[in-house]
Amino acid sequence: MSDLTLAQMAQQVLTTADGHEKTKLSRAHAARWFAARKAGEVIEIGHANPPLRPARPEKPELLDPRDVPRRRPGSPEGRKAILHAVAHIELNAVDLHWDIIARFTDVKMPIGFYDDWVKSADEESKHFNLICDSLKSHGSFYGDLPAHAGMWRAAEDTVEDLMGRLAVVPMVLEARGLDVTPGMINIFRQAKDTQTVEALEVIYAEEVAHVAYGSKWFHFLCGRHEQDPKDVFHALVRKYFHGPLKPPFNEEKRADAGLPPDFYWPLTEDDAVS
Ligand SMILES: [Fe+2]
Ligand SMILES: [Fe+2]
Repeated sequence: MSDLTLAQMAQQVLTTADGHEKTKLSRAHAARWFAARKAGEVIEIGHANPPLRPARPEKPELLDPRDVPRRRPGSPEGRKAILHAVAHIELNAVDLHWDIIARFTDVKMPIGFYDDWVKSADEESKHFNLICDSLKSHGSFYGDLPAHAGMWRAAEDTVEDLMGRLAVVPMVLEARGLDVTPGMINIFRQAKDTQTVEALEVIYAEEVAHVAYGSKWFHFLCGRHEQDPKDVFHALVRKYFHGPLKPPFNEEKRADAGLPPDFYWPLTEDDAVS
């Protein structure tokens, strides 16, 4: 039995620096939450004081995106770099999902909101470890290469705006993952790296739900405030996301996730200025 509230559990994950420790704690808290839900026990949501930026290990070194060296995807070094970048994204995603739980406890939400993000955080923790296993078979590890410093920016920009957070994190950034993952799977399939192909397929399948949770709760809040979801989405993405959305889009998976084309096409370069 733990006496922690859900917000306190989230804060513990956010303040744990090491990736393996962080994901272990994340999975343990998720298991605790779902065991309680199944048993009909109540874990309070509570309130916490999440850090503006989550604790991070000393390595990888975080660089400006322009300074992260580019490698050819066809080479073994290139594939290692892709895996390292994905591990970094997954670790950030673990924190993003716990952060949305801990950050917005002043907004009264149904318990299903918490179920969805705890489940997502648990899955991201699994994704991080799957990719770390792949990195290991490439003779590497998380921290071996520099990583992108900009990953937390969307969280900081939307620290006071739950709808903005939903619009930019699951509905823009995680939806982007749906667009690029099939190409990544191809790269590893061509290299006959079955372990990575299987890991990426798990990630690809589970990420659809994360985008869908974003869309679901975004629409829920629009309904609460009697706002038009498409207009609000466009306004919030233009406010918090820097730059246009980039096609090609995975329209089929985006549709599965509750993102219709008129949400994202008007935010591409050609349409953005109108
Ligand atoms: Fe993920
Ligand atoms: Fe995700």
